[in-house]
Order: sequence, then structure tokens, then C-alpha cells
Amino acid sequence: MEKVLIAGASGALGIEVLKKLHHLGIPARALVHSEQGFEKVEPYTHDIFFADARDPHAMEGVCKDMQVVFSALGKSVSLFKPRLNSYREIDYEGNRNLLHQALRSGVKRFVYTSIMGSGSAHHLSIAKEHQRIQHLLEQSPVQYTIIKPVGFFSGLHDLLIMAKRGIIPIPGSGHFRTNSIHPTDLAQVAVDHLFEGPKVMDVGGPKIESRNEMARTIQAKTNARIIHISPRLMQAGLVPFGLFKKGFAANLDYFRYVTTHDMIAPCYGKITFKEYVEQLDLNQLP
Ligand SMILES: NC(=O)c1ccc[n+]([C@@H]2O[C@H](COP(=O)([O-])OP(=O)(O)OC[C@H]3O[C@@H](n4cnc5c(N)ncnc54)[C@H](OP(=O)(O)O)[C@@H]3O)[C@@H](O)[C@H]2O)c1
Repeated sequence: MEKVLIAGASGALGIEVLKKLHHLGIPARALVHSEQGFEKVEPYTHDIFFADARDPHAMEGVCKDMQVVFSALGKSVSLFKPRLNSYREIDYEGNRNLLHQALRSGVKRFVYTSIMGSGSAHHLSIAKEHQRIQHLLEQSPVQYTIIKPVGFFSGLHDLLIMAKRGIIPIPGSGHFRTNSIHPTDLAQVAVDHLFEGPKVMDVGGPKIESRNEMARTIQAKTNARIIHISPRLMQAGLVPFGLFKKGFAANLDYFRYVTTHDMIAPCYGKITFKEYVEQLDLNQLP
């Protein structure tokens, strides 16, 4: 049976792909770079490769005996986990090192998680770095599928965390619409395209909603107050949340962009944002 390497296996999307492969009995190797990551993947595979993807030497052999690579490796988009590293280091250099190893080991297919709009939102560093990996894949001999999703429900945890503190900040009018997706629904799309698929596909969730409608769903759960803030003054508006760490600006640019543009992709999956929020245990969020 073909073996699959999952990069970013401890992340919101990667862990869901790993769980599905475990359930299907498809052998999977998980790439992790931290003890916490190791503990998350351990219940689903014993084939665990420990390396920082930024380090080309540490990555040597990561794809040995693998036929397919699935990458959900990237810097977190959360405002609450900005980390010190950049999208260039993780999304580009980490995935470039991974692709290099895949080619050296004769991997047949590479399924890559990018972001919807990566080809047009050139001013966003996350979009730019994902697009650089797309160019590398286009020039490589490997078969590939690039999945370009809208935002994940897990990416909206930031709003829920702020709602726990009493406020749901919505940049601008809140009229822009999206069809965000549950990571497990997106993982199903990834698993369905692991062995064949189009070169590029946009993926969204089952229901198109405005940012205001999503804010009202969060309000029903938390009783927080919805406030509209000017996109240009967002940084100042978020001061009370103490978010100003290095690495924050790039994540704020992403948040501002996705909330002030329509982000609508072909619909996949079943779980709506309302269903997701209703079952969420707020105590699990900081
Ligand atoms: N979240 C969204 O709303 C969204 C929307 C569209 C596209 N995307 C894209 O989809 C991909 C997956 O997103 P996600 O939300 O699942 O991300 P995530 O939860 O932040 O997971 C990222 C994964 O990458 C790993 N990682 C980070 N730095 C690493 C390094 N130096 N070496 C090895 N592994 C490293 C993380 O491990 P640790 O947890 O141990 O750090 C984690 O497993 C990303 O490329 C993202 O840009 C996300």
C-alpha cells in the first residue's frame, strides 16, 4: 500500500488528515518539530519523523519510502500564536526543503495546502510565500495538487477568544462573505485527492455567510458585544488584547485581508459554522 508523509501533522488540518488515514488503515508518517506535536500525533502513527523543516540537514530522509506527501506545514495564522518566525521561513523555506526531499526520494505525488487568493493578494506575505511554492511545484517533475482553502473554523478561534473577553471585533462593515470550512471537512477533501486530482483547486465550506452573520453566531454563544472597527485602525483597536508581539503584523495583515474581501470557493463538506460553535467548549480556548 502507498505510504503518505504528512507535514504539519500536529496542526489543525494535518491532525485531521492523519486521523482519517489512521481510520482508513493507510500507512502515514508524521513530521513534527516539538514535544507537543509528538504527543498529538502519537495515538495515530508510530512512524514519526522529528525535524525542524527549516533545517535542510535535519530534513534528510524525511520522505524515504514515501509515495505521497501531504503538506499542511505553515506558520500559524492566529493573532494569538504569532511566533517569532516568518511566513518566508516556514511556509516557503520549510516546504521548499520538503519538496527537495520528496524529489530526492522519488515521491510520486505532492499535495500542498496553499491559501485561496494566493495568486492575487501579492502584498500579503502568507500569499506570496505559498505562491512561491506553487511555482516550484509547477517547475518540478512531481505530480501535484494544490488545495487553496478559504479560512478554517479553527482560524476563527481568535474571534472566540476575544469574545470570551467581551468583544467581537469586526473590521469594516462586516458585509463581506465567506464559506469557511471545518478542518475535518477540508481533511476529507485532501484525503479524496491524495492519489489523484486537479493541479489547483479552491475549497470552501458548505454555507456562505457574511462576517456579521458569523459574529452573531459567536455572540449567541458568548453574549459578547459586536464592535465594528476601521480596518486601518485595527492595530490600535486590538491593544486591549495585548497582542503586540513580533510576528503579529503579518498575521494581522492576513486577518484584515480575509475579513474585508469576499472569500468564496466551491462548497465542500457538511459542518456549518453555527454547528461548530454550538458544540465548542470555550474552556478549551485561552
Ligand atoms: N488556518 C486557516 O484559516 C488557513 C486558511 C487557509 C490556508 N491555510 C494554510 O493551511 C496550512 C495549514 O494551516 P493550519 O491552520 O492547519 O496550521 P497550524 O494549525 O498552525 O499547523 C501548522 C503545522 O506546521 C507545523 N510547523 C510549524 N513550523 C514548523 C517547523 N519549523 N518545522 C516543522 N513543522 C512546523 C506546526 O507544528 P507545531 O504545532 O508543533 O508548531 C503544525 O503542525 C498553512 O499553510 C496555512 O497557511 C490556513
